[in-house]
Amino acid sequence: MPFNALVLTENDGKVSPSFDEIEESDLPSPANPVTVAVEHSSLNYKDGMILRGIGRLVRTYPHVPGVDLAGTVIDSSDGRYAPGDQVVCTGWRVGESHWGGYAERARLNADWLVPLPSGLSTRDAMAIGTAGFTAMQALMALERQGVKPGDPILVTGASGGVGSSAIMWGKALDHRIVASTGRIENADALLAQGAAEVIDRAELADAPTRPLLSERWAGCIDAVGGDTLSHVLAETAYGGSVAACGLAGGNALNTTVIPFLLRGVNLLGIDSVMAPFDARQRVWSRIAEVFDADRLATITTEVALPDLIELAPRILAGQVRGRIVVSL
Ligand SMILES: NC(=O)c1ccc[n+]([C@@H]2O[C@H](COP(=O)([O-])OP(=O)(O)OC[C@H]3O[C@@H](n4cnc5c(N)ncnc54)[C@H](OP(=O)(O)O)[C@@H]3O)[C@@H](O)[C@H]2O)c1
Repeated sequence: MPFNALVLTENDGKVSPSFDEIEESDLPSPANPVTVAVEHSSLNYKDGMILRGIGRLVRTYPHVPGVDLAGTVIDSSDGRYAPGDQVVCTGWRVGESHWGGYAERARLNADWLVPLPSGLSTRDAMAIGTAGFTAMQALMALERQGVKPGDPILVTGASGGVGSSAIMWGKALDHRIVASTGRIENADALLAQGAAEVIDRAELADAPTRPLLSERWAGCIDAVGGDTLSHVLAETAYGGSVAACGLAGGNALNTTVIPFLLRGVNLLGIDSVMAPFDARQRVWSRIAEVFDADRLATITTEVALPDLIELAPRILAGQVRGRIVVSL
C-alpha cells in the first residue's frame, strides 16, 4: 500500500522537497531489516541542514530525511523485534545516509533500534528525540566527572532543542541551571522550564581576553561551540567539565591549554549518533526515570510534514524554540 513521504531530490546541485506517495518496495533495505510504521519524528538542527541541502550530509538522492523516528514494528527479519513492538531510532546517520523518519514507513537495521522506553509514548520519545537524548548524555557525562546537584551548570543555546532539554533534565535532577540565550525575551519561559537564572549570550560570545577568567561554572552543556566554547572554558571552575555538544555558533575552537593545565578543566566530547546500544539504553533509562509529560509539553510544538519546509531555515537561523515533534 502506498504511503506518504517527504522526498528530497537534487537537480544541478539544488535540493528540493516534494510530498510523494511511495511504496514499501521503494524503501532501501539495510542488513537485519525491520520495517516500522512511523508514528512520530522530530526536527533537529541537522534535519534543517539536510532539508536545505547544506553541508553535503546526504550523498544520494532521492532521499527521505528525518534523523529521528518512533513507531511500531510491522515486519522484522531480526529475532530481537516482532510485529507490534514499539521502537525508537535516533542517530546511526538515519535520515542522512539512510532513509529516515519523514515518511509513514521506514526500513532500518535492527541494530539501530531501541525498544520504546517504558512510560513513554512514541510522541514523547520524539518530543525528546536526538536533542533531548544528547542533552541527557551530556548531563550524565558531567555527573560522571563529579558535577553535583546544586553546582552551577551553564547551558548555551538555551532556547533551542538541546538547550531546552538540558534545562528540563537539569531541573528534574536538581541541578542549578544557568541558561544562556540570545533571545532574552524568552527569559521567563526558560525560568518556568526550570532554569535558576538566565543570562544574555552576548556575555559569552567573544573569545576570552585572557586564558583564565573568573571561575563561574562547575559544568557546561554547550550547543554553540566557537568563541562561546573558548570563553566558557576560560570561565570553568577548578576541576569543572564542559560537554561540547554542538556548533550552532561555529565549529572552530580557538583556545589555550591553560584551563586544562592550571584548572584541570575537562572538555568532554558528546556524540549521540554512533553511541553504542548499551550506552543508549542507559541514557533512555535515565530519561524514563525523570520524564515528566507536563514539563515536556512546555517545550514541545507539534507539526505535520509540510510544515517542515518553512521550519528548516528557521531552525538554522536559531528561531525555533524548544522541540518540534512531527506527527505522521
Ligand atoms: N553531538 C551530538 O550528537 C548532537 C546532537 C544533537 C544536536 N547537536 C548539535 O547541537 C546544536 C544544537 O542543536 P539543536 O537541535 O538544539 O538546535 P536548535 O534548536 O537550533 O538550537 C540551537 C540554539 O543555539 C543558539 N544559537 C543559534 N545560533 C547561534 C549563534 N550564531 N551564536 C550563538 N548561539 C546561537 C540559539 O539559542 P538561543 O536563541 O537561546 O541563544 C538556538 O536556539 C547543533 O549544532 C546540532 O548540530 C549535536
